Amino acid sequence: MKGEQQVETALKSYEDVDSWKTVIFLYNAALKEVGTKLEILNEEFQHVHKYNPIEHIKTRIKTPESIVKKLKRYGYETSIENMVRYVNDIAGVRVICSFTSDIYRLAEMIGNQSDLKVLSIKDYIRNPKESGYKSYHMLVSVPIFLSDSVVDTKVEIQIRTIAMDFWASLEHKIYYKFEGNAPEYISRDLRECAKMVSELDEKMLSLNEAIQECIEHQANRDNMNDVLNNVIGSGPEQKSLDYAGKEN
Ligand code: GTP
Ligand code: MG
Repeated sequence: MKGEQQVETALKSYEDVDSWKTVIFLYNAALKEVGTKLEILNEEFQHVHKYNPIEHIKTRIKTPESIVKKLKRYGYETSIENMVRYVNDIAGVRVICSFTSDIYRLAEMIGNQSDLKVLSIKDYIRNPKESGYKSYHMLVSVPIFLSDSVVDTKVEIQIRTIAMDFWASLEHKIYYKFEGNAPEYISRDLRECAKMVSELDEKMLSLNEAIQECIEHQANRDNMNDVLNNVIGSGPEQKSLDYAGKEN
């Protein structure tokens, strides 16, 4: 049975089917709201700091099959009420950043949005999972303004680096392939890869900081040369000078 049908059967009445559609409509609206907020934050950051903290954003609505499966796993019967109450990741946004520092910067900016409520935070970067999984999770609710009411709707935001995302997508494939019982040597190699991911992220971050320092240093030098050119002399033939006043 296809997922939608499965849910419609489980929901029994047409009234329930209608509310299912309404609920999915709300989650879609919430995804749009949060997606736009993140894009604006990214653009503002680009505008002010000439730098994008976000590499890319992926959004998805959980499939009906997965919603039903999760409710069963939690021991609840399939109903709209239970799904809204207990399944927190029906609307999911995954934000991919270049550097770990971007993740915390972004999480703070999201937390400061006055219309968003942060319901919970799970920092699997500072406290990675047993599997080696790393990511920063925020469960937020966003108000959806309808013609005659406002509905707070939950969205799960996962923020991670490109390297963490690379690891998580491979681990996800392996998890599904072996239905959670991967051979020990594969789980061990995955944990090993998780360690390499952390090392890579750290190395890339310090490399980026070194690059930023060089750029700042160069900018200071250029400013100094401008000042010297203006004070000492002008003209098209004027050579740029370094700190010691030597030509460079
Ligand atoms: P579920 O794990 O979804 O039942 O909910 P939870 O309340 O335990 O939330 P948790 O923060 O543990 O995980 C939420 C989501 O994070 C999952 O649906 C996955 O997308 C992702 N995730 C968590 N753990 C892992 C992991 O070990 N590997 C991978 N690839 N993804 C994970
Ligand atoms: Mg879990």
